[in-house]
Amino acid sequence: MTETGPEIHGERQAQRSANGEPVVVVKQLVKEFGKLRAVDNLNMVINTGETYGLIGPNGSGKTTLIRMMVGLSRPTSGTIHILGEKIPSHKVSPNLGYMPQLSALYLDLTAAQNMRFFCKIYGLRGKEQGKRIREMLERVDLADRANDVVSKFSGGMKQRLSLACALVHGPRLLMLDEPTVGVDPELRRTFWQYFAQLNSEGVTIIVSTHHLDEASRCTRLGLMRLGELLAQDVPQDLLRNSGKDNMEEAFLYYASRQDEEVEEETLEKEEIQ
Ligand SMILES: Nc1ncnc2c1ncn2[C@@H]1O[C@H](COP(=O)(O)OP(=O)(O)OP(=O)(O)O)[C@@H](O)[C@H]1O
Ligand SMILES: [Mg+2]
Repeated sequence: MTETGPEIHGERQAQRSANGEPVVVVKQLVKEFGKLRAVDNLNMVINTGETYGLIGPNGSGKTTLIRMMVGLSRPTSGTIHILGEKIPSHKVSPNLGYMPQLSALYLDLTAAQNMRFFCKIYGLRGKEQGKRIREMLERVDLADRANDVVSKFSGGMKQRLSLACALVHGPRLLMLDEPTVGVDPELRRTFWQYFAQLNSEGVTIIVSTHHLDEASRCTRLGLMRLGELLAQDVPQDLLRNSGKDNMEEAFLYYASRQDEEVEEETLEKEEIQ
């Protein structure tokens, strides 16, 4: 990432980071698809300046949660507030950047045309639009590919362009749904350098990942399984409280506690019947 990043937030935002005000407040959130409870009574508070990692296996509810946070899906019950507004809210959208798990890029358009599309959504026009597109493409090292059709891009290049599209309007809160999936180790490191720099500029980041080695780069983690939050804390405390020395073992420890609870509940129900 180049040093000449856009002035997304400046000092005011940095001060807010230090204050650590709540940006996202999730209360008793439930999402059901028919009989399936994809998100099961989640409560979380994410503060300004955090890089909050959502860690969980396939089907644990990460995407479902993120889609509700960005207002693309309605909760069955419970609430999400972002920057003090109840979601969905048109007031909040300009402050949110979202990189979906499945690319939202138009393959038959060029990189710059894709970015223009996202600019239009966010009402960026004229000189400001051109400036932002150039800055963001430079930032993800794609400036020399601006006029190439995206169908010719490698997977990693598409991921970088998706990130640039999510950032083009200078959001205060960035939601990244598995941004490093299928990305080689070198580019993964570059991505985390991007995130660290954005974070230092005051952008709050929520990032889902399967890569447990990325966990230590987050300020706090929410471990998800079967739609529930098994535990949430700073990485060191999750390790300490589990008595394990790596996040994979720690995750298995918290998962086994969830299994024990489910077993106890089942036994209780059987006794009642
Ligand atoms: N639109 C939908 N209709 C029905 N079920 C859904 C829908 N979206 C998600 N689900 C179900 O909800 C559960 C959680 O899915 P979700 O995509 O949120 O998981 P995830 O943690 O993001 O998984 P992955 O790591 O594979 O991306 C899964 O059982 C999934 O099949
Ligand atoms: Mg997902």
